Amino acid sequence: MINLYRERLMDHYRHPRNRGRLENPDFSSGQFNPSCGDSIALDAKLQNDRIKEIFFEGKGCVISQATASLLTELAKGKTMVELLNLDEAAMLELVGIDLGPTRLKCALLPLEALQEGIKKYQKKGSNA
Ligand code: FES
Repeated sequence: MINLYRERLMDHYRHPRNRGRLENPDFSSGQFNPSCGDSIALDAKLQNDRIKEIFFEGKGCVISQATASLLTELAKGKTMVELLNLDEAAMLELVGIDLGPTRLKCALLPLEALQEGIKKYQKKGSNA
């Protein structure tokens, strides 16, 4: 079972889904892990409070890049509230294998980028 998850991670790393940038996104955001230099940037378009399209660019380790790819698939069609409610446990479930504290940070990098983007977008909306 674990091997299946590892294979799925490697597949997402080698063939990332939703990789690229979007023109005229509703929000963009990025996260950088200063301890390793890895980064994730996301662009998303919304429709009725839900993610309609989401793309990412990034560089870094297998876990951060594969999780970003998995997260873009998960995020499509979800509401902003649902995505803000995702936590460490949800990311572990998405990745499907046990991660130590360092690699957990790798898996959280894309989630932090997504949630920061949603919060920035919501703040902008409430100021408008
Ligand atoms: Fe940098 Fe994983 S080693 S995010």
